[in-house]
Amino acid sequence: MNPNRLIQSYLKEKISSYLYKGENFREFKRFDMGESAFPFTPRAFEELKKLSEEDFHDYPDPCLFEIKKRIAELFNVKPAMITTACGSDELVEQIPRIVMNEGDKALAIVPTFFRFLDSVSRMNCETVLIKTKEEEDFAITDEIINLAIKEANRNKVKLIWICNPNNPTGTIISSQQIKSILDATDCFVVVDEALHEFVDPTHKSSAVNLINGRKNLIVLRTLSKAYGLAGIRFGFGIGDEDTINTFERFRLPYNSSTISQKIALTVLKDQEHLRKTINQTNKLKSELIDDLSGISGLHVVGQTVTNTILLKHVSKDLFEELYKKKVLVADFRKANGLEDKKYVRVVVRNKPMNDFLVKVLREICL
Ligand SMILES: Cc1ncc(COP(=O)(O)O)c(C=O)c1O
Repeated sequence: MNPNRLIQSYLKEKISSYLYKGENFREFKRFDMGESAFPFTPRAFEELKKLSEEDFHDYPDPCLFEIKKRIAELFNVKPAMITTACGSDELVEQIPRIVMNEGDKALAIVPTFFRFLDSVSRMNCETVLIKTKEEEDFAITDEIINLAIKEANRNKVKLIWICNPNNPTGTIISSQQIKSILDATDCFVVVDEALHEFVDPTHKSSAVNLINGRKNLIVLRTLSKAYGLAGIRFGFGIGDEDTINTFERFRLPYNSSTISQKIALTVLKDQEHLRKTINQTNKLKSELIDDLSGISGLHVVGQTVTNTILLKHVSKDLFEELYKKKVLVADFRKANGLEDKKYVRVVVRNKPMNDFLVKVLREICL
């Protein structure tokens, strides 16, 4: 096969992904993924029992009328400001295709979600990387924001990715910082809020509040993380009506199945369950961070506001050591902005699993 030039140039790229392929990890204790440790609302199963023959036989609603209405209520926007996707990852892939031309530049503050760089490369475009500092626990300071603005303007960047809170560091960017980027550049800005419910389950502090007629902003959300529904593949984007109109014209008409639409609607209605999940996660996370911080030689990255924690050992290769003990963690040893620093990322799980992780790490770090 002779793939086209965009694919050929992409195949040469080396982008470090932490997703594992091809191996059987059934015997492993897994801390590598980013989903919530808690089950989704039991109402989702009740909804499944109500499915009829037509729900399987007929095409799904291509306008996602009910679900857009519900999202609009939650975020206090119009349904016409919402586009939906097969996981927010679909939008991450779609955005460079919509806003970039071959040879254009994007910008990202690293370390961050690898898929931002991945999707830009597939357009035969480059990403300008702004590196946060290890000695500041990878915080996104005003100094970093000013540098990002300067480099975006200097490089005539078309697209800026902001991950808020950031994956894998768990750091947060303030609305004021995002606003200063929007005010000081002409770039199309993506604020990926895949992990935002962990900070604010009320949806009130979202960058959606910055849209206000701006055509160069889209905010991404997903049901994969705090809602605990990565398997149904449902994400969405919120932006100005004109912007969303363009995205909707690129959306495949049936990119969300009837089943995923029904489940998504049910969980978005059960906000009480979401709040409980967040409270339980935050409690378990504080306990886990306390335990990890007490282990000698372990460096735990600052104030994570999400359900994942980035860590390393001063001298040992934690990924290798944990792997030998059949514990799988997300491998950030080659990630952009973390090269050769030997970081791994773990997810907060239930109490017995977290205790198990602490026990294994204590043994390794003896
Ligand atoms: C920051 C961030 N954005 C987006 C996604 C994509 O999530 P999904 O496609 O499941 O909605 C992920 C998943 O790991 C993520 O960490």
